Amino acid sequence: MTELRGKKYHIITFGCQMNEHDSETIAGLLQAEGCRQARERAEADIVIINTCSVRENADKRFFGTLGQLKKQKATNPAFAACVCGCMMQQEHIVGQVRRQYPWVDVIFGTHNIHEFPQMLQQLYRARSAFAGEDDEASNEDLIRMSDHDYTRAKHEIRSAKQTRVERIYEDKETIVEGLPAKRLYRHKSFVNIMYGCNNFCTYCIVPYTRGREKSRRPEDILQEVRDLAADGVREVTLLGQNVNSYRGVSRTEEPKNWDFADLIYALNEIEELERIRFMTSHPKDLSEKLIGAFRDCGKLCHYIHLPVQSGSSRLLARMNRRYTAEQYLQLVRRLRQAAPDIAISTDIIVGFPGETEEDFEETLALVKEVEYDSAFTFLYSKRKGTPAAEYEDQVPEEVKHERFNRLVDALNEISLRKNAACIGSVQRVLVDGASKKDPGILSGRTDGFKLVDFQGDESLIGTTVSVEITEGKTFSLRGKIRE
Ligand code: 5AD
Ligand code: SF4
Repeated sequence: MTELRGKKYHIITFGCQMNEHDSETIAGLLQAEGCRQARERAEADIVIINTCSVRENADKRFFGTLGQLKKQKATNPAFAACVCGCMMQQEHIVGQVRRQYPWVDVIFGTHNIHEFPQMLQQLYRARSAFAGEDDEASNEDLIRMSDHDYTRAKHEIRSAKQTRVERIYEDKETIVEGLPAKRLYRHKSFVNIMYGCNNFCTYCIVPYTRGREKSRRPEDILQEVRDLAADGVREVTLLGQNVNSYRGVSRTEEPKNWDFADLIYALNEIEELERIRFMTSHPKDLSEKLIGAFRDCGKLCHYIHLPVQSGSSRLLARMNRRYTAEQYLQLVRRLRQAAPDIAISTDIIVGFPGETEEDFEETLALVKEVEYDSAFTFLYSKRKGTPAAEYEDQVPEEVKHERFNRLVDALNEISLRKNAACIGSVQRVLVDGASKKDPGILSGRTDGFKLVDFQGDESLIGTTVSVEITEGKTFSLRGKIRE
């Protein structure tokens, strides 16, 4: 695709690991077409904003960032403003982009990332064909003609005063394999094992933006991880909205049907690989077999992200989580029996519709009982199209904020106490990088996913070292390398 060769790109990513990994794939696809990563946004010809629908104020931040691109477009005739990700799977957001930001050049969804280079090429071809002309109709025709996938798409191509390429699929049954990825790190990598979610928690937009659950074939995942390990990757993080409901069907391996624990046991056999992580786990699907894997599989890190969302069984039912607080606590006990040193983190929503002071206190009590190593806390906010957005008993903002602060205080106190308890221990740390401010300071993660800073030489990046912990702070540890 000659139109893309030599162009410089810059990707802005909002949201979760899934989005981070999608951005790595977008970068990989562009590099394969001869594009280069720009050093900074200002020098890029192609800017891609990969959006998120889940995080707080995601829409405000997105539209704010988008607004800034208009000026950049005015100064660079080759400039392409591109938007993608979860928000583009929401009709009302795409409508808003079309109305308020008509100068956006490419819009694509979460199911057609692999077609992005082709869309860009269409854009550049159409631009050069119509340079100097102002014929809207034929402009549109040209793009339509060059698009053989036209009928598959929900929104297709529209052309306003300018050329714009849009393609957003509703959902797709097949998984596109073999896409290149430009990894953020040489020594660790994300690996998608499944896409989508079938759970429909009543607050969550993901089942609408990412579609139904689809598992990759086990042989494809195993091959990808073997290739990564051969390429120097020491740690893989298996990604899925709910990895515990992984159901892989193999065409080549025995058995034919694989669950998530089968996958872990198989990956544990890959020699060059040192560490296996995964996220996210839904408590309702966490099996005894997977708990056993924490005991049996030496490479499976003793860390689990297990979102609880609330400590009130009444609210959990209203959230459609399909477990009770007691069942959750039982899971935590079983995990700790299998792996006594396991680190546990969670997601908690404060101010879900109908949350009373008693419900909230149950959350505080659960947090204190579990003693989380870390947690992501969210103020409930309405997502258009989800059931909870229609509930009448929304919690007032000031009540939400007050509870949120109390929760964060409780969580931070526990994190600090647990991190201080690490002082004196020796941890195996995979070194991720050096501090930007001081290259003599390295940082990495322990087996339990705790962030550690320590003095060391940059040549250690990508290796695993032993670090004695000397200080425990709320969000990280300090230490010194042990020979
Ligand atoms: N409001 C607040 N938090 C939410 N999350 C998902 N949807 C919402 C919402 N509407 C949180 C959940 C989930 C995490 C990724 O985001 O805690 O686990
Ligand atoms: Fe959203 Fe629930 Fe699915 Fe997680 S499990 S992605 S919270 S619907």
